[in-house]
Amino acid sequence: MLITSRRNPLVNRLRYLHEAEGRRIHGLILLEGTHLFQEVLRLGLVPTEIIATPKWLKHNNDLTKTFSSVRLVTLDVLRAIATTKNPDGILTVLPIVQLPIVPRTPNFLLVLDRLQDPGNMGTLMRTALAAGVDSLWLRGGVDPLHPKVLRASAGAALSLPLERFSSTVELLQQIKNLSWMQRIATRVQEKYTSQTIKPYWQLDWSKPTALFLGNEGSGLDPFLESICTDGVTIPHSYLVDSLNVGVAAAPLLLERFRQRLTYVKNNL
Ligand SMILES: C[S@@+](CC[C@H](N)C(=O)[O-])C[C@H]1O[C@@H](n2cnc3c(N)ncnc32)[C@H](O)[C@@H]1O
Repeated sequence: MLITSRRNPLVNRLRYLHEAEGRRIHGLILLEGTHLFQEVLRLGLVPTEIIATPKWLKHNNDLTKTFSSVRLVTLDVLRAIATTKNPDGILTVLPIVQLPIVPRTPNFLLVLDRLQDPGNMGTLMRTALAAGVDSLWLRGGVDPLHPKVLRASAGAALSLPLERFSSTVELLQQIKNLSWMQRIATRVQEKYTSQTIKPYWQLDWSKPTALFLGNEGSGLDPFLESICTDGVTIPHSYLVDSLNVGVAAAPLLLERFRQRLTYVKNNL
């Protein structure tokens, strides 16, 4: 049956998943778009609901053939549920318990301090996964399971184990258990001081590493910085004070990958 009314209870039930409270109470997340649906299939995850327009289903019937039911809604109803202005025709509801579990002994950990922007968070997740990060730890900031973050991560959020800490104390306790890892603070270049911080390529990234990135406005909490064993920077022109955190993450995270490739090539 085609749902045509925005007043259908389905709309409010799924819109509740835009909110952290709704996701927590129902233990579900809302994935928007064909790409995220394809990621769900690729990873062998099992959605509780698939909501699509008749037009989307007509063009993508092969993608849904293993599912017994797809809820059909008009584009207008789909728009009322989605956070995107122009959803491409499908929404997927997935249980949170199907997301990956953080390993006990991570080898490459990314710690994000109070990141606020959903786009930055999603971009970072995608880069982290590409660079071989095996755990993402978040201290406060934007909810990583918000539909906008999930979309910006292009599905990386479904593969990257993550843990959230509501306070610095809680995060510090966990970090203390990771004594075998080098803890790397990231710092913007300092124009007016003579303090030198290592350019990121001078660090030996082959060691087990926890990399710390800071908030978009205030940077890395000095308290977190004080527990780091090393600091690195990405040198750039003084015409800007700093880089966007999502942009800064790419060379840092991928330097580990580059050093590993170089090591493998040299030892063939
Ligand atoms: C926009 S910056 C924060 C700027 C803030 N006013 C400060 O002084 O730290 C956000 C985060 O991006 C990273 N970042 C930005 N530029 C960087 C650079 N040149 N080198 C290393 N990390 C950088 C750091 O993790 C930083 O905490």
